[in-house]
Amino acid sequence: MPSILITGGAGFIGSHTAHRYLGKGWKVHVYDNMSRVGAPAALEWLSRHLQSAHLSVTQADVRDYDTLAPLVAQADVVLHAAGQTAVTKSVANPRDDFLSNALGTLNVLEAARASQTATHNPVILYTSTNKIYGGMEEVGITLRDDHYAYTHFPGGMSEAQPLDFHSPYGCSKGTGDQYMRDYARIYGLRTVVLRQSCIYGVWQFGTEDQGWLAHFTISALLDKPLNIYGDGKQVRDVLYIDDLVNAYDLLIEHADIAAGQIFNIGGGPQNAVSLLDLIHILEELRGKPIPLVYDDWRPGDQRVYVSDTTKLRQTVGWEPAVGVADGVGRLYHWARENRDLLLAVRGQAFA
Ligand SMILES: NC(=O)c1ccc[n+]([C@@H]2O[C@H](COP(=O)([O-])OP(=O)(O)OC[C@H]3O[C@@H](n4cnc5c(N)ncnc54)[C@H](O)[C@@H]3O)[C@@H](O)[C@H]2O)c1
Repeated sequence: MPSILITGGAGFIGSHTAHRYLGKGWKVHVYDNMSRVGAPAALEWLSRHLQSAHLSVTQADVRDYDTLAPLVAQADVVLHAAGQTAVTKSVANPRDDFLSNALGTLNVLEAARASQTATHNPVILYTSTNKIYGGMEEVGITLRDDHYAYTHFPGGMSEAQPLDFHSPYGCSKGTGDQYMRDYARIYGLRTVVLRQSCIYGVWQFGTEDQGWLAHFTISALLDKPLNIYGDGKQVRDVLYIDDLVNAYDLLIEHADIAAGQIFNIGGGPQNAVSLLDLIHILEELRGKPIPLVYDDWRPGDQRVYVSDTTKLRQTVGWEPAVGVADGVGRLYHWARENRDLLLAVRGQAFA
């Protein structure tokens, strides 16, 4: 039976990936320090719904090499999704952010290198971010029909965009991104880097700091006003979680050609929406307007980010399948059915 180790497996992306691989009959090992508010609920969801005999959980930190290393040594595949995820927190505590994201990633790589033999060389997927491209100030932007758009890149941003780490979070994730790439080059590890755009879906406990789409959806449901920084015309390509896990699946299946590669992944131009578009979808779902509070742009906020996913499509044949209205509808209905849980998680997040 193949096995996958998922660091951050009690998080949003990690728990969905665990769910998928339990469903496929794999052995799944979740490795998580449980620092995410809502992590226990995600784990309960996993063990309630699936054959939990195949599910193991270690509550530990990716900074703890000695606990992590033997688990990496046993895994056929590693999804490295653990880490500090909020730009704001990285600015408040850059050292903590560095240790979780940069050192934590190096620990995963070193553990894989130490366990490498002629027959063991795990596939390692790394959850990087578009934030490593920075503010992209040199890229021309046009305002068209109330949407910011790239003047010269109608297909979105490709992997050729120069790196420009902004914020301690950008630096620590970018460090991991480059280490992943280099360990493929220098040591022949089978790493794959995914520079992810905005991922959203059910079981995402979004806050203003992280997971803005889920934050908007949950706020709309709970009848809370929304803060809009800037004019609301900023555009993001959003990707439903199932489509991200489909990409992981294809990359694992085609690890022979994907190893050592970097891919941008997001909803792409066909799933690019402005904040105001999203608010409009949510207003339709809840049947009444959402009160909006406008504030200044935040430093470093991109007017537009849209991924060019051509390389991923050409390499493994991946295409996103869930459109924005469908995905946001699924998230809204899930939130409505889990209102009490969301209130409890929000209470803890703001405690
Ligand atoms: N969600 C997105 O839109 C998005 C976009 C780009 C990149 N990413 C990256 O994907 C990864 C997963 O994101 P997510 O949205 O699932 O976040 P999440 O916060 O839901 O999950 C992260 C998990 O890691 C755990 N964790 C945090 N620090 C840890 C540590 N030091 N040791 C062990 N566990 C630790 C948390 O408890 C949590 O369960 C992150 O690394 C993030 O930077 C996410």
